[in-house]
Amino acid sequence: MHRLFILFLTCFLAHTLTAALSEEKRAFALNVPKAELHIHFEGTLEPDHYLKLIEQNGLEAKYDSLEAVQERLLDQRDLNSFIEVYEELLSAMRTEDDFYEVAMAYCRKVSSQGVLYVELFFDPQMHTVRGISLDTVMRGLLRAREEANVSLGLTLNFIACFNRDRSAESAAKHLEELVRWQDVILGIGLDNPEEIDFPKKFASVYARARELGFRLTTHCDVNVPNTLAHHWDAIELMQVERIDHGLNVIDDPALLNVVRRRGIGLTACPTLLYLDIPGRMGSRAGAIKTLLEAGVQVCVNSDDPGMMRSLYVGDLLALTVEEVDLSREQTLELARNSFRIAWISDDDRQRYIRAVDDFAESNLFSSDW
Ligand code: ADE
Ligand code: ZN
Repeated sequence: MHRLFILFLTCFLAHTLTAALSEEKRAFALNVPKAELHIHFEGTLEPDHYLKLIEQNGLEAKYDSLEAVQERLLDQRDLNSFIEVYEELLSAMRTEDDFYEVAMAYCRKVSSQGVLYVELFFDPQMHTVRGISLDTVMRGLLRAREEANVSLGLTLNFIACFNRDRSAESAAKHLEELVRWQDVILGIGLDNPEEIDFPKKFASVYARARELGFRLTTHCDVNVPNTLAHHWDAIELMQVERIDHGLNVIDDPALLNVVRRRGIGLTACPTLLYLDIPGRMGSRAGAIKTLLEAGVQVCVNSDDPGMMRSLYVGDLLALTVEEVDLSREQTLELARNSFRIAWISDDDRQRYIRAVDDFAESNLFSSDW
């Protein structure tokens, strides 16, 4: 009886300590200073905000409740069906105020999750095809940039993403118009469904963007047809400095070597789609850990949090830590990497990395984690 009681007490204490430790780890990952570099402005739109915009703008209400919008989000089976939902929901944004409000809602959320710096993707073509001018979009985004800086101490810059399933001519035309905002649109990217050989299609647009002084990145989605060739061509033909997702780099040792040696950053996202397929979070988090251990500059990002179960970047770093049991040092490295590969000055980089180190020093654990 006595022995049974001791056994019970030991198990109870071990369980309580483990729970306390995982709570401490979660708070550490959530709050560690970090940058977010792979985040689609349009995908930050939350279902309740969508409904509010539909009403405000007097648009046809396709869904009569939050539950109905959430049910629509369950239609995401793959990237193509996700983009259909994405385009449908983002069409509720019409005015400068809408762009401002949606961007501010995102900034408020992430500034409570340790985020100090953001490079926010947006899809110019998704708005101009609806008759909304770049001027309207940019006025809203610029107001949010100013407000986030003043009221939250958050620095926000932008990356214009062209859609891979639209023409290179359309991308080239938009590129020339974006020069007007080049002080805040730091670079260009490519998103939407991954067409076979897309780097060849957009190589000349990238050459022109480079000539204009834009920084270069592109999505290379995970486990899609021809993925390794796309990674190689993105690096060789498009001369990208970063790859968005890029987790298949672990499948090709020569590619991994080039990515590591050239310091090409990978903006990885542990989740995709509203309905996570069993095992996917684990395999993505596992790939992130492998890349980190191989010395690749990888960081954790949220992609489309408003349309993907409201998981923001701090939540996702915490989930990654838990899923693949990252060490404290690995957690800090992911945070430092987000600043290492950010398109910022070296002075800012040092300042941000010092903030990570200061955070680590003032958040020591009672245990050895
Ligand atoms: N557009 C928005 N989110 C995207 C993603 N994860 N991949 C490709 N295009 C996107
Ligand atoms: Zn993305």
